[in-house]
Amino acid sequence: MSTVMKGASFVPRYNAVERSTHWTLAISFMIATLSGLALFHPSFWFLSSFLGGGVASKNLHPWAGLVMCVAFVPMAMWYWKDNLIRDYDIAWLKNLPAHLMNKHVEGGPEIDKYNAGQKMLFWSIVGSLLLLLVSGLVLWYDTDLKLPAFWVRISGAAHALASFVLFMGMIVHIYSAIFWIKGSMRAMLRGEVKASWAKHHHPRWYRRVRGDR
Ligand code: HEM
Repeated sequence: MSTVMKGASFVPRYNAVERSTHWTLAISFMIATLSGLALFHPSFWFLSSFLGGGVASKNLHPWAGLVMCVAFVPMAMWYWKDNLIRDYDIAWLKNLPAHLMNKHVEGGPEIDKYNAGQKMLFWSIVGSLLLLLVSGLVLWYDTDLKLPAFWVRISGAAHALASFVLFMGMIVHIYSAIFWIKGSMRAMLRGEVKASWAKHHHPRWYRRVRGDR
C-alpha cells in the first residue's frame, strides 16, 4: 500500500483490480443466491423468473457459484494477512455490544485495516466458499462420479448449510457497508475513503498508510 500525503482528505483503500474483483464476486453471489433459492424450495421458485426461468436458473447456478469461488481466490490472497486475529481484536470483541450500537469506545483498541467483525466474516467466507465448492462439485458431477447416495446426500446438506452461513454473513456485510458504517461504500465504489473515516474507524491502518510508522 502506498503512503499518502499528510493532511490529504482522501486515503486510497482499494485499487481498480481489487474493486472489479469484488463486484464480480458480488454479482455472481446475487445470481447464485437467486438461482439457488429457486432450486432449493418451491416457495422461492418465483425468483427464477428474474433469471430467465427455471432452466436458465438451473444452468446458471453452478457457473455463478464457480465464478464466485474463483473470484474470491485473489481476494483471499490479498487480504488474509489483514484479517489475522490479533490481541487488540479480542479487546474489540469484549466491547462488541457498544460496537453494535455504533458507539465510540473511549480508550478502546486501535483498529487496523479491518475490525474483528470484518475479520470473522472474512474467515466465515473462506470456510463457506470452500464447503460450497467441494459439495457443489459433487452435486454437479454426481452421476459421473458414481458416488454412493450417502455422500451425495451429505453434500446436499453441506451445500445448504454453507450457503445459509454465507447468506447470513452477506446480510450483515451488505447492511453494514450500505447503512451502518457510513462512508464504506466509497471504498468499494471509488477506491478511496475520507481521511476522517479512516482515522475514526481504522486509526492503526490510517497511521500506516500515512507512513507514520
Ligand atoms: C451488494 C453486495 C456487496 C456490497 C454492497 C459490498 C460492499 C463492500 C464494501 C463497501 C467493502 C469495503 C469495506 C472496508 O473496506 O471496510 C467490502 C469489502 C469486502 N467484501 Fe463486499 N460487498 C458486497 C458483496 C460481497 C460478497 C458477495 C462477498 C463475498 C462472498 C464480499 C466480500 C468482501 C470482502 C472479502 C471484503 C474485504 C473485507 C475483508 O477482507 O474483511 N462482498 N464489501
